[in-house]
Amino acid sequence: MIFLGLDLFPPQASTVALPIDLIYIYITAVSVFFTVLIFALVIFFSVKYRRRSDAERPKPIEGNHLLEIIWVAVPLVIVLTMFVAGAVVFFYIFHPPKEGIQMYGVGKQWMWKFQHPEGRREINDLHVPLGIPVKMTLTSEDVIHDFFVPAFRIKMDVVPGRYVQTWFKATKLGEFHLFCAEYCGTKHSQMIGKVIVMKPEDYAKWLAGQDPASPMPAVSMAERGAKLFQDLRCVTCHGGTLSALGPKLEGVYGSTVELEGGKTVTADDTYLRESIMFPTKRVVKGFQPLMPTYQGQIAEEDVLAIISYIKTLTPEAAVTADAAASAKASSAT
Ligand code: CUA
Repeated sequence: MIFLGLDLFPPQASTVALPIDLIYIYITAVSVFFTVLIFALVIFFSVKYRRRSDAERPKPIEGNHLLEIIWVAVPLVIVLTMFVAGAVVFFYIFHPPKEGIQMYGVGKQWMWKFQHPEGRREINDLHVPLGIPVKMTLTSEDVIHDFFVPAFRIKMDVVPGRYVQTWFKATKLGEFHLFCAEYCGTKHSQMIGKVIVMKPEDYAKWLAGQDPASPMPAVSMAERGAKLFQDLRCVTCHGGTLSALGPKLEGVYGSTVELEGGKTVTADDTYLRESIMFPTKRVVKGFQPLMPTYQGQIAEEDVLAIISYIKTLTPEAAVTADAAASAKASSAT
């Protein structure tokens, strides 16, 4: 929006941009209206009812019920409209739709690393398709960052040790600024990038391209996770045999896990990450706290890849990671 030659608003490039702007303009307009009204009345009344002589005594005021009801009821209705409009948009933003694509991001001093489940990875660039909901799972490698795309009107704190979710649906093609909006150290101001919104067919072509991080065609996150599962020797203890030192992971994702000490936990992304980084914190019932921590030895984007791999391990899946990986490879061809 250009006003007197000044660009007041970033472009409206997502489904929430217009509603958020309308609420913003509405609240600003109401505030300006009442500020002007109150100041005008203060000046007008101080002139009209000024004391004209030292002997002048004002008439006593008994109160006015009608006036009091009006100045309570009118502001109440006005602020309730703000509350309802804000709540509706808030629920929309915090309830990602079922459909759409999943994307993973890691904030790190001082860059944004993104990975697409299909395999492509990028730094400070984020390619997304137009008109399809993009659900972001974000975390931080070090300190608190903040994922901010002004044109989409989304801003989400990215907290170390936690997965946060946000989503958007882009409505305009083009490139849009991406910022870190939380002071995170010397080069915070350089922790910037761009979101590139492409036509879905162009996005599909882009996805099928090569991983810029390696000369090989991109392997999916789950395949990368399967390889890490081997390389980090996770498979030694989580091989799924009866004598295994760790619980088997087939079918674990989304299930309710019984813990040592009697409590239960839902095996979601957060619990799986915790079990990799702090394995002795919540130990599965029937197992010893033997697993070493991987904190500091594995990057957050690799944890995400391993979790992606664990999600593919259905109860029917082969018992060893080897077989699961080769099954995946053969079914992909
Ligand atoms: Cu990351 Cu500021």
